[in-house]
Amino acid sequence: MNSSKLQEIMERKATIIKNPEIFEIDQTPDELVERRETSVLFEEVAIFLKYRSVHNLLLTGHPGTGKTVTANSIQEQIPKFSDEINSFLVNCKDLTPNEVLYNLNPTMPKNLSFNDAMFYFLKSLEKDTLVFLDEIDKGRNMGDLLYKLSRPKEICKDCDKKINLVLISNNPVWEDVLDAYIRSSLQLTRVIFSPYNKKDLIRIMKKRISKGFMDPAAISEEQLEKIADFVAEQRTGDSRVAILALKYSARLAERRLKDKIEEEDIQKAITESIRDIESFRIVSLSNQDLFALYSCFTTNPNLDALYDTCNNIAREITENKVKLPSKSTFFRELLYLETQGLIRKEIVVNTEGKTPHKETVIRPNVDKGIVDNEINLRIGKISENKRS
Ligand SMILES: Nc1ncnc2c1ncn2[C@@H]1O[C@H](COP(=O)(O)OP(=O)(O)OP(=O)(O)O)[C@@H](O)[C@H]1O
Ligand SMILES: [Mg+2]
Repeated sequence: MNSSKLQEIMERKATIIKNPEIFEIDQTPDELVERRETSVLFEEVAIFLKYRSVHNLLLTGHPGTGKTVTANSIQEQIPKFSDEINSFLVNCKDLTPNEVLYNLNPTMPKNLSFNDAMFYFLKSLEKDTLVFLDEIDKGRNMGDLLYKLSRPKEICKDCDKKINLVLISNNPVWEDVLDAYIRSSLQLTRVIFSPYNKKDLIRIMKKRISKGFMDPAAISEEQLEKIADFVAEQRTGDSRVAILALKYSARLAERRLKDKIEEEDIQKAITESIRDIESFRIVSLSNQDLFALYSCFTTNPNLDALYDTCNNIAREITENKVKLPSKSTFFRELLYLETQGLIRKEIVVNTEGKTPHKETVIRPNVDKGIVDNEINLRIGKISENKRS
C-alpha cells in the first residue's frame, strides 16, 4: 500500500481555503445578503411582531433563493425586538404531524394521539408564537396540523395565545393540494423569492470568500462573474451551485499546490457542483415525481404523450403496485420538476402532419445516469418491500 502518498496529501498545506465550514451548502452565514424580497418578508412578519395581528405567510421560490437562511435569520433576531414572542423553526421533511409538534415542544410525551399532542402543545404556549414550518410540502399529511394550528382557541379553550405561521416551500403548486377549508382557514399571504441575479450571487460569494479564503485575490472578479453568469442563466440563480463551485474550484487549485484559482478549475468546479446538486434533488424526489422525470427521457417528449408514458413506466417498474396520478396532478409534478431545474419546457414547431403547428415538449435538464441509478435503487427497494 502506498502510504507515503496519503501522508503527502495529508501534510499538504491549504493554500486557499482558510475555513472549509464556510462553504458547507446549508451553512447559515453570520450576515445575510439582503435584497428587495428580504425586505418584503421582513415587512410581512413585522405585522405580527409589532401588532400581534395574525397574518399567515407562504414563503415560496426556486431552490437556493435564500428562503431557509432568511427564516433562520428572522428567528435569531426576534429576541432583540421582543421578549413577549416565541418563535420556532421546524424542517418538516418526512415528519408526521406528531413529530412536528414534538419538535415544537420537546417536553411533550411521545406516545400521545394527534389530538392530545395538539392540545398539549397549545396549552403549553406561554407567549404569542411565530412558527416557521420549512419544507412544508415534504411533510407527511400536514393538512390537519395546519388547520388546527390556524385555530388554536377552537381546539383548546384555555389557549389565549396567538400563532402566526410562516410556511416555506419551493413547490409553487403545493398550496393547490390543500383542501379548500384548510386554505380558507389559513388565509396565506404569498411572498415569492425570485431567482438570484448575477449581482446578488456575486455578493453572496464575496461574503463567503471574505470569511473562508486566506486571500480573497485567490479568485478573480472575472472568474466570479463567470460562475454567477452561469448560475443565473442556467441554474435559475441557485446560490448553492455558486457556493459549491467556489469550494470545488479552490480545492482543485489546492491539489496543484496553487494559491490562485485558474480558468480550468472554474469550469470543472461548475460541472462538479451541478452534478452534486442534481443528485441531491433527484434523491429527494417522491417515487411519483421520479417516474415523471424518468419519462421525460423517452423519445416522444410531447406533453400529452408524456402522461401515458409516465403511467406505463410507473406500472411496469412497480409491477402495477402504484396509484396513478390524475392528469392535473401529473402536470403539477412537471411544474415542480421544472422549478427544481430538472426539466425545461420548450415550444417547437411540429412539421409532421398537414399543417405545421406549435407544441410544447419537455426536455430533461439532468444527467440520465443519475436518474437511472436512483430508479434502479428504488426498484430494489420496491421489490424488497413486496417480499417482506
Ligand atoms: N441572501 C443570502 N445571504 C447569504 N447566504 C445565502 C443567501 N441566500 C442563500 N444563501 C446561502 O445559499 C444556500 C442556500 O440557501 P437556502 O438554504 O436559504 O435556500 P432555499 O431557498 O431554502 O432553498 P430550498 O428551496 O432548496 O430549500 C445556503 O447555504 C445559504 O446560506
Ligand atoms: Mg430551504
